[in-house]
Amino acid sequence: MTGKRVVVVGSGGREHAYQAVLARTADVVVTPGNPGIPGSVATSAEDLDADLFVIGPEQPLVGGLADRLRRRGRLVFGPGADGAELEGSKKWMKDVVAAAGVPTAAYAAFTADQLDEALAYLRATGGPYVIKTDGLAAGKGVLVTENLAEAEADVHDKLSGAAFGESGTIIIIEEALDGPEISFFALCDGTKAVPIATLAQDHKRVGDGNIGPNTGGMGCYSPVPGVEVQLVEELMAVAIDPTVAELRRRGIDYRGVLFAGFMLTTDGPKLLEYNIRFGDPEAQVVLPRIEGDVVELLSSVAAGAVHEAPTVSSDAMVTVVLASEGYPISPRTGDKIEGLAAAEALDGVQVFCAGIGRVADSFTTSGGRVLNVTARAADVESARSLAYEACSLISWPGMVMRTDIAAVTPATPIPTSSRSITAMSEQEALR
Ligand code: AMP
Ligand code: GLY
Repeated sequence: MTGKRVVVVGSGGREHAYQAVLARTADVVVTPGNPGIPGSVATSAEDLDADLFVIGPEQPLVGGLADRLRRRGRLVFGPGADGAELEGSKKWMKDVVAAAGVPTAAYAAFTADQLDEALAYLRATGGPYVIKTDGLAAGKGVLVTENLAEAEADVHDKLSGAAFGESGTIIIIEEALDGPEISFFALCDGTKAVPIATLAQDHKRVGDGNIGPNTGGMGCYSPVPGVEVQLVEELMAVAIDPTVAELRRRGIDYRGVLFAGFMLTTDGPKLLEYNIRFGDPEAQVVLPRIEGDVVELLSSVAAGAVHEAPTVSSDAMVTVVLASEGYPISPRTGDKIEGLAAAEALDGVQVFCAGIGRVADSFTTSGGRVLNVTARAADVESARSLAYEACSLISWPGMVMRTDIAAVTPATPIPTSSRSITAMSEQEALR
């Protein structure tokens, strides 16, 4: 123990993963946390004292929590409201990355009084059509469709405020990209960034085979075998480093994680989006693989003095989300969860708790994504088997999970020079 105290802000599986990793070397308090996360307290972050504050979700970052804590002299891992606009405004993000020369989809932004211009631009792109709400929309603000009538209706609904109200009346219309999607994380200390040298792939649709509505993520795995050795260096050079330089040029001192979503197109990796926080459930399969003292690592980022990229274990991790019946539309809650202790007794398994409550001495479901059953092993296939073995021990009425998380992994490396993505075509079918 370093005798340090860390406060983690948030209440989901990502924050449970932070807690587990930071508790290796510090006392950790989580606010508000949940009944399944050790050290959860109801006190708000601004009324707590600690050597380091780590902010998990995007909403408090966009709302300026990191700035308020820094004004009190706290050390904070997470950007201020200025840098948080990378996720808070897709238009601003696209403007920053365009200025930085990062490869990304061609785009234009439109406001409510530009309906005719927006429709003309949309038709000129020729489809598939990609329309995004500018502001935070909990993952629901993006439409990708081949149907022009549907795309036009979406432009009308968003610009008029019918779809997302005021926060949705600025839209981005984008060139459609094609290829496998991957998630990449870099730690930025305000002037420079170091990679977390691995990649993750999540599964966003609710059903097996990528059927049904988008969710916050139904499962995730890391590493992505075969592709990452060549890609990490390239993603730093073409996207992260120029973005940090552009933020700096705009006077923004970004301290925290940059979560970059890329599409691996035949023209090379193209940036889809930046998030200003770890992914959930990506954090559950990436954070535990960071070796060394993660408290010191995140503290050095927060202090503007990150020295070197952390070492990442070559172990693989797979997390499977156990969700409530009806997720993501109307999750049923209040059911008693059975088998949690038996699952966690398996060697290499940890269950991160998200939408969970406690009644007497039992855990109950209290949200859509309830548990993240997470396994660690030498390779993705072994981690996947172990995760599903653990899942089979847990139950509640109506419990939902995907059975194909990490089921197919790319067999051979992507040859960066030829830009062939055939090695990932099976994987692509799984996204
Ligand atoms: P975003 O929130 O911007 O990452 O978009 C959500 C999802 O929409 C992404 O994970 C992609 O699957 C898809 N998407 C976003 N932008 C594009 C694009 N330009 N071309 C094709 N698909 C896209
Ligand atoms: N799992 C995707 C996200 O956290 O945005």
